Amino acid sequence: MSDWIRVCDTGELLPGEKTVAWDGDTPILVVNLDGEYYALEDQCSHEDYELSAGEVDPGAATIECTLHGAKFDLRDGRALCAPAHAPVAKFPVKVEDGAVWTRDDR
Ligand code: FES
Repeated sequence: MSDWIRVCDTGELLPGEKTVAWDGDTPILVVNLDGEYYALEDQCSHEDYELSAGEVDPGAATIECTLHGAKFDLRDGRALCAPAHAPVAKFPVKVEDGAVWTRDDR
């Protein structure tokens, strides 16, 4: 298990915005939903494609994969519609020292 990695200052990730951080070889999508931060592996569970290229719907707390349109719940990584059925990995997030942190805790 790796240490926490610093994603960005809290002021750099505003509500509705997303960014990508790397923990070693793992790309992590970090999203601010109305002041709450969530982190998922930045990889669609349908095919090897980055979720962060997709559109965030802050109201529904979802992100849509741009490749084939699968949607995932940003809060827990659950797949919400075909063609994806498996969830994407969810990672912990914390706010400390004015910054957002996450890590691949698998
Ligand atoms: S790669 Fe994401 S829906 Fe197909």
